[in-house]
Amino acid sequence: MSGLKVLSVASEIFPLVKTGGLADVAGALPGALKREGILVRTLVPAYPAVKAKLAEVSTIGEYSDLFGGPARVLAGAAAGLDLFALDAPHLYDRPGNPYLRPDGLDWTDNARRFAALARVGADIGLGAIGPFRPEVVHAHDWQAALAPAYLHFASALRPATVITIHNLAFQGHFPLSTFWELGLPERALTIDGVEYFGGVGYLKAGLRLADGITTVSPTYAREITTPEFGMALDGLLRSRASTLHGILNGIDDVVWNPAADPAVPQNYSALRIDMRARNKTALQNKLGLTPSPDRPLFAVVSRLSHQKGLDLMLSAMPQFVAKGGQFGLLGSGERTLEEGFADAAANRADSIGCVFGYDERLAHLFQAGADFVVVPSRFEPCGLTQLCALRYGATPIVSRVGGLADTVIDANEAATAAGVATGVQFSPTSVEALSSAFDRAFELFHNKESMRRVRLNGMRADVSWRGPARRYAALYRSLAGAAR
Ligand code: ADP
Ligand code: GLC
Repeated sequence: MSGLKVLSVASEIFPLVKTGGLADVAGALPGALKREGILVRTLVPAYPAVKAKLAEVSTIGEYSDLFGGPARVLAGAAAGLDLFALDAPHLYDRPGNPYLRPDGLDWTDNARRFAALARVGADIGLGAIGPFRPEVVHAHDWQAALAPAYLHFASALRPATVITIHNLAFQGHFPLSTFWELGLPERALTIDGVEYFGGVGYLKAGLRLADGITTVSPTYAREITTPEFGMALDGLLRSRASTLHGILNGIDDVVWNPAADPAVPQNYSALRIDMRARNKTALQNKLGLTPSPDRPLFAVVSRLSHQKGLDLMLSAMPQFVAKGGQFGLLGSGERTLEEGFADAAANRADSIGCVFGYDERLAHLFQAGADFVVVPSRFEPCGLTQLCALRYGATPIVSRVGGLADTVIDANEAATAAGVATGVQFSPTSVEALSSAFDRAFELFHNKESMRRVRLNGMRADVSWRGPARRYAALYRSLAGAAR
């Protein structure tokens, strides 16, 4: 039973390249799976940030022409991860964000860049490169989604395939002309293959052709089979419902450990929860806010995008600031949102502080110092910030969607009476509902005993990868064992 080999294919991986939670998952899952007897190697593009860290490097494969230039497959290790890095300078030798040009637009050759990643993933899967021959190829999001398609149309004996949806909003939808560059047989260009609304759909192809589909929470797995959340893929997902699994994400409990976190001024644990107070003061100082233990400090650590519902936060803020609340933001993204938060902070510098940018270390101080972490998403496949918040004793306030619904227990009367509440949920995702969630949070904050209970429940919740890793391991084993 043991020793099953899996090739994970991902376009980002923590701590080497990260734009969001996908990187966290790709970086943490291999370690958790190792404890389940699963050997994972991850194929990633050899961006400069990957190449710079890759050690014990050997070349295990070469292409004279991979989508317009020569390429090598490097095997190596970095940050404790066993990697294959696809070294194709014409595609990946570009610094910064893996998908965007410095001016913020998509690289115009993204269709080629990520078809190449998937193609090589499939070749490794077929045993055509190097000695590692996986029983399962696991593709993450649209960037890797053609790997199951290449494998489906390969004539050789192939491994089982799994695709994970981290975010259905990004689908890799390209013009039809792309198809002729992919090297897939002509019969792949049908509605049961890679064709999608008159073009080519990478994610669509993966969802159609992979043996197993997962997404990152049970609620999101249900939601995406409905028109409201399905982003035009709900019909396809309904037709594959028997192979669609919702497996929650975890967080890396070594990286996120308040008892030994080097990024926070005061380490603490559930037993010494009062020691958090020093971190709150440090965060208030960092944000230029009036340091006060008695004012509830609400925080957001997030990409600034429509998905995250932060425009609602902007609308709800004046009201809770008037009630004595403080707010801190760490985020970057859409300009209009940045401007909105910057204006709000300029008007109420004592109560609102913003840090624009991406700062991994500072994210830890936010989690260790905030009283509440707010995640008002319109949709949220899983969400990791609320998991970090639970572990750090910052109480999550979340919209009741996707993984947020699955990971936070609302402090309603029943849950409070049973002593199991871990946060505040609201629904629908509207300013009114968010505002009443803030009212409930104020009440909770001023009831010291209940607040303490909710914080401790959060810190004791299991947000690790152990349970999820067992589920992935079981899925891999069942797919690898199935006849194809
Ligand atoms: P998504 O992947 O949709 O952005 P998740 O909640 O799954 O949302 O993951 C976001 C990850 O990125 C978390 O680890 C969070 O702490 C981190 N993060 C988001 N924005 C920032 C930021 N500005 N600085 C530091 N970390 C951030
Ligand atoms: C996506 C989703 C987020 C999820 C992450 C990791 O970026 O937006 O909800 O936690 O992927 O799966």
